[in-house]
Amino acid sequence: MSTKKPDLDAAYSLDTPEDSIDLYRNWAATYDTDFAVEMDYVYPAAVAAVFAEYAGVQDAPVLDVGAGTGLVGAALSANGQWQIDGLDISAEMLAVAMGKGAYRAVHVADLTGAIDLPDGQYGGVISAGTFTHGHVGPQAFDELLRLAAPNALFVIGINAAVYKDQGFEAKFRDLADQIVDFMVLERLIYGDKTKPDHKDDIALVAVFRKAGVAAGS
Ligand SMILES: C[S@@+](CC[C@H](N)C(=O)[O-])C[C@H]1O[C@@H](n2cnc3c(N)ncnc32)[C@H](O)[C@@H]1O
Repeated sequence: MSTKKPDLDAAYSLDTPEDSIDLYRNWAATYDTDFAVEMDYVYPAAVAAVFAEYAGVQDAPVLDVGAGTGLVGAALSANGQWQIDGLDISAEMLAVAMGKGAYRAVHVADLTGAIDLPDGQYGGVISAGTFTHGHVGPQAFDELLRLAAPNALFVIGINAAVYKDQGFEAKFRDLADQIVDFMVLERLIYGDKTKPDHKDDIALVAVFRKAGVAAGS
């Protein structure tokens, strides 16, 4: 078991899915207070606001990928009524998420492998904080597209520092025949009250739809 103090530096230096399980097991109880509040972590709300701006009622249910303690689901619920499921490798983080009352269900799963959920059931896919240093790479999008219904809306935050280097840009290029209406927005990860060394950290928010015609349209 990890003896690392759970913080942003430890999170950014993770290597394997097992490292994530260990770190987030120890972080679940304090993540919202010691990290999100302390760092003025505005990213989940920013990604939820982008989703709410581009989504229609058909873009549900929504899968929150790397849902953690449920900050994205809570922010999305504040923007409207959505059926939201959370997926994360950490059962402890998801237990905190369920306590927020914003999620219909949660699934413990590893985004770096096959996910034991049926094809085509999600009308929306959302994520913040999961595609970053030491976490999940672009290979996850093959499974996420499988889980999504035709025309599903994806709003996916990716740390700008890994976007090119870890192959996200190339992956979206390779998926060109499977995704449409692709664009990339920029959002700050932390607000004014954060620590000086992270005040300019940027996320790129990839917004696109799965190609294909939605049932009933
Ligand atoms: C920085 S937290 C972000 C949580 C939440 N979305 C937020 O913005 O507060 C990253 C999350 O990714 C999850 N994670 C890391 N590796 C994963 C993997 N291989 N599969 C699924 N989830 C993973 C962690 O357990 C953690 O909850």
